[in-house]
Order: sequence, then structure tokens, then C-alpha cells
Amino acid sequence: MEENADGGDASVVPYGRCAAELRPTEPVISPLELLRSEKVVRICAPMVRYSKLPFRALVRRYGCDVAYTPMIVSDSFVQSSKARDVEFTTNYDDRPLIVQFAATNSADFARAAELVAPFADGIDLNCGCPQRWALADGYGAALMKKPELVADMVHGARTRTSLPVSIKIRIHGDLRETVELCRRAESAGCGWITVHGRTTKQRAEPCNFDAIKIVKESVNVPVVANGDIRNEDDIHRVADMTGVDVKIFSKFSSVQSDGSERCSGEPSHVLWCLHHSSGGGAGLAGPLTCTRTDPLHIPPPPHTHVERVHSRVEKRVFNTLTSTPAVLDFLRTHYGIT
Ligand SMILES: Cc1cc2nc3c(=O)[nH]c(=O)nc-3n(C[C@H](O)[C@H](O)[C@H](O)COP(=O)(O)O)c2cc1C
Repeated sequence: MEENADGGDASVVPYGRCAAELRPTEPVISPLELLRSEKVVRICAPMVRYSKLPFRALVRRYGCDVAYTPMIVSDSFVQSSKARDVEFTTNYDDRPLIVQFAATNSADFARAAELVAPFADGIDLNCGCPQRWALADGYGAALMKKPELVADMVHGARTRTSLPVSIKIRIHGDLRETVELCRRAESAGCGWITVHGRTTKQRAEPCNFDAIKIVKESVNVPVVANGDIRNEDDIHRVADMTGVDVKIFSKFSSVQSDGSERCSGEPSHVLWCLHHSSGGGAGLAGPLTCTRTDPLHIPPPPHTHVERVHSRVEKRVFNTLTSTPAVLDFLRTHYGIT
């Protein structure tokens, strides 16, 4: 038996007990199919601490076509069933879903991909995380300098699952390196490439859409533009500038629902959405969850959305709340949201 570091059986698919119930209620459209269509595809970007199941459920209500998980570190995911329980939660409505991994080698990435394959519609390799710990350990943007390794990882995961495998990158100072990286990934079977138009060192600087356009013109797979896309107007602006196939939202970006409802992405609206999605047993109350946590419990990620509207004292109080009724009560008292 292949053993985990924590003694569990690594051959057991995480959340396997939920596999039958996790069959989606409707056929899932492959993200690759969506990206190849003429349709504008609204994608919720991977965001550590944010884009977990409750957040994904929320944005899907507002017209999000495809959602990413936050980056999951593949080696601990492969080695520990506890890590799998904590890092990956899903339910039957959580599709199409791209699971993003941070990895430093092909074996971990392929194995992690294999473990989530029954519950996912695509696997993404993070090649853009600029955090110091990630760069030091060879994750994320450290891969920007290793096109051969990236190609090897893409190829490895492709051969171990039937899912499309994509990469999410930043840009290099010298765009020839970016083009080289993308072409190698494409040759290795990469399904699409998401380009965040900033270098590893850049944070809030304006996104370089010319660079994204160059990538788009250099490869044949779909290219997703990422960065500085906040609303519908931005979508059209970025499409005109880059010629990309699709756009990717992030942060509090809104997605328009099929009716008149629209989440502006402003913190107050996010609060409203939070309330809306947690109330009355609807939304997040989906009966299926693959963790031991109560699906109605609002976990830490959404708490972070209120950072900008709380005073420091309110924030401290808010962060001690541990139950849905307590959160709803807080919203009612402080913001009159009922
Ligand atoms: C809080 C936060 C967490 C993020 N976590 C991830 C992540 O896990 N994986 C990833 O590829 N990018 C991550 N990103 C980057 C976003 O996916 C996206 O590339 C970036 O926010 C785009 O720039 P924008 O904010 O101008 O739209 C994160 C961004 C934020 C703000």
C-alpha cells in the first residue's frame, strides 16, 4: 500500500465517500470547450483564503462560468489526508471547477491532479505566485525560469488524468522568455494559458495588456487575460486591447446574474451577498460537503471581505464570530442588513 506521511492510504481518493453524491445534477461543460467557444467566459481567479467553496458558490450565483480553487500545495496534499480534507472542499454544484496546485516537481503535481480528478474539470499549475516563501521553495513564479520543468509537469499531469491541464503565469521583463515558456507548455499539451500581465516584482502597477496580446499571438491554445479586470466594461476594453479569448476576474469583481441582480463588488454588496448566500438554508446550505465542517458555517475567507468596511474594533468582534446566526446578527445590527 502506498502510504501517506500521516499513515493513511495515499491510493484512496480524498472525499471518496462523497464520490457518488458529487455527481453534478446537470452535465458539466468542459472549461476547455467554453474557452474555445465564442462566448465570453467569466472566470473567478484563484485566490488563497478567498476562493474556497463558499466564495465559489457565491460568485457562481452571479454568472461566474468557471471557478478556481485557491492554490493548493501539492506535496502536502499528496502526503496527508488531513491536508486534503482542509484544502479541498467541493459539492455537486461546484462545477466547472479548476483545481490549482503549487508544485515543484512532476510527480507531486501529477499525483495531486489524479487525486482531485474525480471532482474537477481542469487542473492548473501555479507559475505566478510571487511570495517570498514560494520563490524560495521553488513554487509559483520560481517556475517562470524553468520552462522545461513546467513542460514536464504539464505533460505528466496530462498523462495521469483525462482532464485539461493549464498554467497561470506572470510575465517576464523580457517577453521572449514568456513566449518561450508558453510555447513549451503548449507543446507539452497545455490546454490554455492564463496570463497575469504583471512581472513577479509588480504588485499594483497597471497590467501590461500589450504583453498579453503578444502571448495571445504566439500560441494556438486559448489565452486568458488576467489583471485589472473589475467589471463588464473592463472585459470589452481588455478584449479589444489583447484579442484574448476570455477574461478572468479576481478580488471582489462582480459577475452579472441572468436577471437584474448585480453584485457591484463593493464591500457593502459583498456583505449583502454573504448574507444572501448564507441565509435561509439556501446557497451554501447544499447538503453535500466533503469536509467535517458544517457547510453553513461561514469560514475565514469571507470574513476577510469585510476588512475594508469595519472599524478595527468591529473587525475584532466580527472575527470572533463562529456561527452563521452570529454573523447574520452582526450584519443586521451594524449594517441593517436583514
Ligand atoms: C488575496 C489574493 C489571493 C491570491 N491567490 C492566488 C492564488 O492562490 N493563485 C494564483 O494563481 N493567483 C492568486 N492571486 C492572484 C490573482 O489570481 C490574480 O492573478 C490577480 O489578483 C490579478 O490581478 P488584479 O487584482 O489586478 O485583478 C491572488 C490574489 C489575491 C488578491
